[in-house]
Amino acid sequence: MKKSKKNVFRILSVILMFVMVVSAMNGNTVSAKTAKAKTDKKKNVVVLYFSATGTTKGAAQRIKKATKGKMISIKAAEPYTEADLDYGDDESRVTKEHESADSPAKSSVRPKISNLKSIKKAVKKADVVYIGYPIWWGEAPHIVYTLVEGVSLKGKTVVPFSTSISSGLGSSAKHLKTKAKISSKTKWLKGRNFYDIPSQKTVNKWVKGLKY
Ligand SMILES: Cc1cc2nc3c(=O)[nH]c(=O)nc-3n(C[C@H](O)[C@H](O)[C@H](O)COP(=O)(O)O)c2cc1C
Repeated sequence: MKKSKKNVFRILSVILMFVMVVSAMNGNTVSAKTAKAKTDKKKNVVVLYFSATGTTKGAAQRIKKATKGKMISIKAAEPYTEADLDYGDDESRVTKEHESADSPAKSSVRPKISNLKSIKKAVKKADVVYIGYPIWWGEAPHIVYTLVEGVSLKGKTVVPFSTSISSGLGSSAKHLKTKAKISSKTKWLKGRNFYDIPSQKTVNKWVKGLKY
């Protein structure tokens, strides 16, 4: 090969290597961008729950673990004592709440929530809001109505869940939805009930199967 031809060959090789290095770098940037887009798509989850005796709290803790979300309890400004929860007593707080109307949706009893402000702040940032409660007389407790009437769920995916001894979720979540601050963009999922505190495995499977 002549010297001039060799030089041309060398220059072309250098150019080719340069092009290969630059395109590899671009490739890395594209895959980094794709990875970032995937991370960005990760939903921001908040798990809200009201629990008088700890069962719903147990379910919420497992949902928090499964979703890697934030968990906040719905705190009654006036906490429910054991006597308040005695549904066998005609004069107890829960019986009076229950008897205030045909259903909690129709009642004007709305127990105050002491941490509503921080709940609102967390919900604002969230894409998905789990709302958990114990079943009381087949329905969500009145305080959960205070929540859905007081906190905007517009554009959010709402996942109701409950715990009970023998009743299921029933129409409790459907009734809550009728009073909730929602929009046409709110995705209100069917939700589910757990009899007692569910296992982590049960919760993981349920959460994995949800479409949001
Ligand atoms: C006032 C009141 C009403 C209840 N009504 C029902 C009911 O209708 N059906 C049912 O299966 N359990 C009922 N229960 C039981 C609770 O739903 C159950 O123990 C629940 O898991 C308690 O959740 P918590 O520990 O998070 O408060 C009732 C409990 C209370 C205090």
